[in-house]
Amino acid sequence: MTRPTLEAGMTRRDVLKVAGLTGLGAAFYASGVERFLPRALTAKASDQVPFYGTYQAGIMTPAQNHVQLVAFDVKTDRRDELIDLLKRWTRACARLSAGLSLGETDSAYIPPDDTGEAEGLSASHLTFTFGCGVSLFEGDRFGIGHKRPALLRDLPTFDLDQLDEKWSGGDLIVQICADDQQVVFHALRNLTRIGRGVVKIRWTQAGFQRSKVADATGGTPRNLFGFKDGTGNPDVTKAATRENTLFYQWRDGSPWLTNGTFLVVRRIQMHLEVWDRTILKEQERTFGRERASGAPLGSKDEFASVTPTKRIARGETELPADSHTAVAHGEGKVQLLRRSYSYQDGVDETTGALDAGLLFLSYQRSPEQFITIQERLATSDRMNEYITHRGSALFACFGGIQKGGYIGDALFA
Ligand code: HEM
Repeated sequence: MTRPTLEAGMTRRDVLKVAGLTGLGAAFYASGVERFLPRALTAKASDQVPFYGTYQAGIMTPAQNHVQLVAFDVKTDRRDELIDLLKRWTRACARLSAGLSLGETDSAYIPPDDTGEAEGLSASHLTFTFGCGVSLFEGDRFGIGHKRPALLRDLPTFDLDQLDEKWSGGDLIVQICADDQQVVFHALRNLTRIGRGVVKIRWTQAGFQRSKVADATGGTPRNLFGFKDGTGNPDVTKAATRENTLFYQWRDGSPWLTNGTFLVVRRIQMHLEVWDRTILKEQERTFGRERASGAPLGSKDEFASVTPTKRIARGETELPADSHTAVAHGEGKVQLLRRSYSYQDGVDETTGALDAGLLFLSYQRSPEQFITIQERLATSDRMNEYITHRGSALFACFGGIQKGGYIGDALFA
């Protein structure tokens, strides 16, 4: 007899049917070790980030050590198949976030439900953040065309963009983050496996930052140009900042997006060899910050104000007007939450240099926040001679998932 395998969308019961097993035979096949136990012997709540909540995890969660972004295109045109997948992903993500494996029983005669490489590993602060791209609404394949938020449309082309289709777009995005890379990969692999036949991977990109083990100070992490990156982020733990900058509230737009947000993904190559030949003073003028302390030029405090008028009033005028900090900050009226990671991806075939840079990730309640800042940067940022934007995507991320509900349920309600 050929060995039955689990195809996309099949349950163990379906496999037993395929195998023609009933009664005792079925009992034999289904028999196995019950395993509701956590994977790690010492599963700690402090290793877990709750999957359910008002907002999705992975947005305000302090950035973990690793990220894997995966953009899927939906292959099916059937709404029920897509919804069924979102429900199966919900169950899987809830279990993985709690440090549980996907399988409930192990039988020697069918492939395990869980691929196994995360056995013994803790949840490692694993989070999943889901969103959808404008292409999901196109052609009204799933009866949701009328629910496309007016704000969700392709980002404009900015000056100096050199985008590659292979890093752009996507019907669905999942941002997977954890402090352990194998836990991240395990999640990517199993979501992909569960989605077989319904979705296919369009692109996937991995990112890292210094690990919290290596940096016990817990200070601002550094990017691949060696500068502290994240200092000027708004404090979204404050309710007012959170509501003004980050989370969408239904007024006259799309009710299904309430407590959701927009995610911009930009793959930005950083020309390390050019940077490494640049003198320190020029590097610091490029960012408008000291490399060692991260302080704005003219100050010693990393968190000192960068608002030009305040600085001039204090007699500090050293922040170059075309520095990245000055241009990105502007008058400080438009803010976004950056949650970027570094990437390295082998060798750039045209130059022979390392292909490395920033997976720029920003969350904001409207894409206009990103567009406003990027339009300024694209025309006048002193950093432009050291970077090239290679990929771009925009997603509307759902509000938090409630127990009993499923990812994106408000969109399909
Ligand atoms: C490779 C590309 C980039 C690198 C290496 C980079 C790096 C940095 C660094 C080192 C800072 C100063 C420290 C800090 O506040 O975090 C900064 C600030 C900032 N960057 Fe970038 N950045 C990049 C691209 C972008 C892009 C594409 C945007 C948005 C369109 C952006 C928006 C900002 C904002 C809003 C600030 C804070 C400015 C303020 O103080 O208010 N950055 N970035």
